[in-house]
Amino acid sequence: MKTLSYRVNSSRVPIHIDDSDSALLSLLRSAGKPAVVVDSRVADLYKGLIKDIGNIDGAVVATFSAAEENKDIEHAEELLTYFLERDIRRDSVLYAIGGGITGDLSGFVAAIFQRGIQYVHVPTTLLAMVDSSVGGKVGVNHDLGKNMIGAFHQPISIVMNTNFLETLPKAELICGLGEIAKYAVLRGEPFFEFIDKNTARLLNKEKKTLEKTIRISVDTKKRYVEKDLREAGIRAHLNLGHTIGHAIESATGYGTFKHGEAVLIGLVAESHIAMHMKLLRPSSFERILKMVRQIARQSAAGVDMEQVLNRLTFDKKMKAGKVRFVLPAGIGRVVMRDDVSTKNVVGAMKFVAADGLLSLK
Ligand SMILES: NC(=O)c1ccc[n+]([C@@H]2O[C@H](COP(=O)([O-])OP(=O)(O)OC[C@H]3O[C@@H](n4cnc5c(N)ncnc54)[C@H](O)[C@@H]3O)[C@@H](O)[C@H]2O)c1
Repeated sequence: MKTLSYRVNSSRVPIHIDDSDSALLSLLRSAGKPAVVVDSRVADLYKGLIKDIGNIDGAVVATFSAAEENKDIEHAEELLTYFLERDIRRDSVLYAIGGGITGDLSGFVAAIFQRGIQYVHVPTTLLAMVDSSVGGKVGVNHDLGKNMIGAFHQPISIVMNTNFLETLPKAELICGLGEIAKYAVLRGEPFFEFIDKNTARLLNKEKKTLEKTIRISVDTKKRYVEKDLREAGIRAHLNLGHTIGHAIESATGYGTFKHGEAVLIGLVAESHIAMHMKLLRPSSFERILKMVRQIARQSAAGVDMEQVLNRLTFDKKMKAGKVRFVLPAGIGRVVMRDDVSTKNVVGAMKFVAADGLLSLK
């Protein structure tokens, strides 16, 4: 087992990376009266593990159907009621077993249950392992926007069992690889080269390659989180690919592109913008494009250009007049810019459409 950790003020959050359930089960057995939220698909696929957890003295297990439309205040309230009715207490620890949706929702429940109880995240998707489980951002969606209600509530521990990835569908694997491609650009060499050379192995879920990738990705995220726990500054670099990515997700009503797919398209579009603003060399743009092409799937799904521009303007209102982009300025370097022109955004969207990543309406 490998253990990494990240610093939160004067304490550290351990991140166990293993290929068995033993770390999780021994933590649960020492937990008193644990409250457990399990993604219902994971519960179906891993019946033996859920049975073992159910047999732990005092454990209260709830299942949750992970879908973006269920990551809302109503489902949080259902879980709160479920645990209150079963006498979960202030000193209980909540365990979230599932992907980013289960983690965000359950972490939020932990943050507000009796003014906050401790929680442990057990990520079961690649995206949750490399991204959402690390950093303490928890929350739910609101009709007026994604992740609009939430908190910073750090887990006391993150327990990863990479065997969960064996059952992960390819589309979900690609979502995790979207965030990993972003880390590759942020972190630079030699990680960028490693990802570029190993996309086929990663898509084939080759264990050693996945484990190394998860470790370096987590280490990359932790560097930003430790410097900026509440996302007031440099942690915003992690939004590389997300300004255009979010606009595409929102313009298509969240059902068309998965988050990680939108991030991959956003990464190419924002790199295209950076090249046209003479921030990024054409040769570096080509390298990013080549890496993304190996991961992303071609898609003919239609995206309305006006809607994308509207979503960016909506963000602009939210941020007092400026749309802030994180743009690559090289492999391993980004800059924040708020002077991206509409013409550059339109040019980038046309490019990703011509490249087959989406179609424009
Ligand atoms: N908190 C953060 O910092 C942060 C960062 C990035 C993303 N997010 C959030 O994460 C969410 C996306 O997370 P996700 O991509 O993990 O989605 P998810 O939780 O919906 O999981 C994706 C799908 O995979 C299934 N699944 C989970 N584990 C499985 C397994 N081992 N085998 C087979 N199927 C499995 C789920 O049931 C679901 O259908 C979004 O809501 C996003 O906003 C949060």
